[in-house]
This record gives sequence, C-alpha cells and structure tokens, in this order.
Amino acid sequence: MTPTDTDRLTSAVTGRLAADARCVTQWLEAWFARQDAAADRLAEAMSHGVLNGGKRLRASLVLSSARLAAAHEGASDAKAQGQPEAIAAAVEMLHAYSLIHDDLPAMDDAELRRGQPATHIAYDEATAILAGDALQTAAFEILASADTHPDAKIRCQLVSCLAKASGLAGMAGGQMLDLQAEQTRFSLDQTTQMQAMKTGALIRAATVMGGIAGGASETMISALADYADAIGLAFQLADDLLDYQAESTELGKPAGRDAEAGKASYVHFYGVEGTREKAEALVEVAAKALAPFAKDAEPLLELAQFSINRTH
Ligand code: IPE
Ligand code: IPE
Ligand code: MG
Ligand code: MG
Ligand code: MG
Repeated sequence: MTPTDTDRLTSAVTGRLAADARCVTQWLEAWFARQDAAADRLAEAMSHGVLNGGKRLRASLVLSSARLAAAHEGASDAKAQGQPEAIAAAVEMLHAYSLIHDDLPAMDDAELRRGQPATHIAYDEATAILAGDALQTAAFEILASADTHPDAKIRCQLVSCLAKASGLAGMAGGQMLDLQAEQTRFSLDQTTQMQAMKTGALIRAATVMGGIAGGASETMISALADYADAIGLAFQLADDLLDYQAESTELGKPAGRDAEAGKASYVHFYGVEGTREKAEALVEVAAKALAPFAKDAEPLLELAQFSINRTH
C-alpha cells in the first residue's frame, strides 16, 4: 500500500470513527442528563471516566457490524434493530470501567488517561472504584432496557455476551493474568491467552453484539467473531508497541510502563519489527474472515487497519 493510500484510508476511517464517536458520546451525555442522582460526586466521576475522550473503537465496531448485518441480511426495518447506539454506549461504559480500575494504584498505577488525570487522581481511589462499579452495572441496565432492543431474547443474548466477555473468562480474568505476569515470566502462549482475555474478549463482544442487534445469521456472527479475534490481538500488539515507542504526551497515558512493571508484552518476544509484522498479518486474517461480505465489510476492514495504525 502506498503512503497516499494509507493517508486516504486513515482519513476515511477517522471520519467515520469520529461520526460514530460523536453519536455515542451524545447518547452518553443524554443518559447522564436523565440520571437523578443523589450521589452527584459519583455521577461526576463516572462521567469523567467515560466522557473524557477515547477513540470509541468498540462503539464503532458495534455500529459498523450492526450496519453490515442490516445491509447484508438483517432486518430491513430499522425499528426491529432497536438502538445500536445504546449498545455501543453500554460497551463504552464497560470499557471505561475497565480503564478506571486498570489505572488504580493497586493495578497499573497510572496517573494519566486520555490526556487527563486518571479518575482516582481527579477524585480519589474509593470514588474511582465506585465509578467503575456503577459504570459496569449501568452498561447491563442499558442492555436490559426495552428501549435498547424490542426483542427480549436478543436483549438476553446481548447481556450474556457482554457479561461473559467482561468476567472470569474475559477481561477481568485477563487482567488477573496480566498482574500475575509481573511476578512470573509468561511464555508466548500464556501472553497470547492473557491478551485475548483482557483486550480481545471485549473487542469480540462489541463486534458480535452489533451483529446480533442487526439480525445477523449464525454464519455472519461466526465470521464477525473470527474478524474480531484477529483485530483484538492486533490491537493489543499495537498497544504494546505504542507503550514501548511512543511519548506519553502523544499517547495521553503514561508510556514505557510495561517494561518498567515487567509486564508480558509482545515486544519482548518479537521485537519492534516482528510485533509490527505480526499485527499486519492479523489484519490480513481479519480481512479474509469478512471476504464473503465484499464491499459491505469495508468499514470494518478500515477499523482493522486503524487498530494498528493508530498513534494513541
Ligand atoms: C486501551 O484501549 C486499553 C486497551 C485495551 C489496550 P483504547 O486504546 O481503545 O482506549 P481509548 O478508549 O481509546 O481511550
Ligand atoms: C488494559 O491493558 C486492558 C484493560 C482491560 C483495561 P493495558 O494496561 O495495556 O491498557 P493501557 O495501556 O493502560 O490503556
Ligand atoms: Mg493493565
Ligand atoms: Mg494499563
Ligand atoms: Mg497498554
């Protein structure tokens, strides 16, 4: 791919991603405006954690796979899809909770997030813990609401998908392994499993949930899951590379901390070039998984490229 192609792709995807980000951010702002909370300080800390920027990649995955499903084989009646943006917002709330807790002193002890003070710095540790807890439960409250999707069976599938991806076998389990890797040297296989759980599971859930909401067939769901497994890993490879190479000012979060903390990182196994090549190969795997959907899959393929070309 020539640099001009890359630039064009980058601006197309950032345009679409920016539109999706605006849409989900507005949805979240409206959600906060509807809350009548006695615990103002908690609502503010939650909002600090979820409305402080963020690329909204997971939101865009939800919306893009819902659009693919609707365009290709899903419900043609927009009403039958409910509100994919509510699902995208729920996934972003869950993700924001994982970041708030990830930054706590007991975990990565990071003071900066999205270019702003981490929630426990802007507030305090106890408030940050509660903000994460309440963002997590809000995500499930939203998924269980009939406004989100008219079909109760689909709502149940969405709740189950997000719960599995976030818990013992998913993000929380992966975060446990990540912390253990600071004490015990992890093999490449253990590192891959840890990355798939801590980061991959939520990326897969976001993509599959969009498909479910859009009325995707089993075949399409399975293709979306294969695509997402590849980009989930590619995304974390890029994250490890950025931690190794980028500056904190550009990243908006502290750089160089993985090596300092003795974290299991792909850069340790493959080196900089090898990690980059592996990430590019995974984007090819993702593209193959969506090949049956031809042009309709282009926005998802662009998100795959973005996952590894991002600068923060
Ligand atoms: C950061 O995720 C945490 C990881 C799973 C590596 P993002 O890079 O998507 O963070 P935001 O949401 O854009 O801030
Ligand atoms: C975090 O991975 C993944 C989560 C589940 C939050 P990292 O610890 O590498 O994420 P950053 O680099 O702090 O965003
Ligand atoms: Mg971490
Ligand atoms: Mg971290
Ligand atoms: Mg990281």
